[in-house]
Amino acid sequence: MNKKFLVATVGIAILVACGTAKNSGPKVETMPTQGDVDRVQDKFPGYTLTDLNEGKQLFESNCNLCHGLKKPASRTEEEWKGIVPRMVKKVNAKDGHSVSADGEQKILRYVITMGSVGKS
Ligand code: HEC
Repeated sequence: MNKKFLVATVGIAILVACGTAKNSGPKVETMPTQGDVDRVQDKFPGYTLTDLNEGKQLFESNCNLCHGLKKPASRTEEEWKGIVPRMVKKVNAKDGHSVSADGEQKILRYVITMGSVGKS
């Protein structure tokens, strides 16, 4: 392998990595941690940090299409249970956006989990 090719390949890999990181959406709220997952483990048995981060990702890429992102702490758990399914229907009515039933549950768990930070 010649050197130029190697340099170009590494360069592209770095660019791609940075591009992907930037596409993770606007930064809102605190980053989810394992502590957040542990806090809701009784409520959501088997819940993982990956699930929580996927919920955050889905929330940030679909829930600001019509209005700003609502803060997870701005609604109670009971309120979110009514709002999220209603809003996911709106997301799915938009061209190019679709959230599955699994995705809907991840969004709901994300807002409930991050909405209860510090309330335990
Ligand atoms: C297609 C446009 C659209 C999308 C996408 C959308 N919303 Fe909404 N949202 C609205 C409109 C319109 C209202 C005000 C009327 C209402 O409550 O239905 C609203 C209201 C809300 C409210 C306040 C409702 C209340 O009863 O307090 C919350 C919270 C909310 N949205 C969260 C979300 C979340 C979470 C998502 C992503 C799953 C989302 N929205 C995606 C259009 C949208």
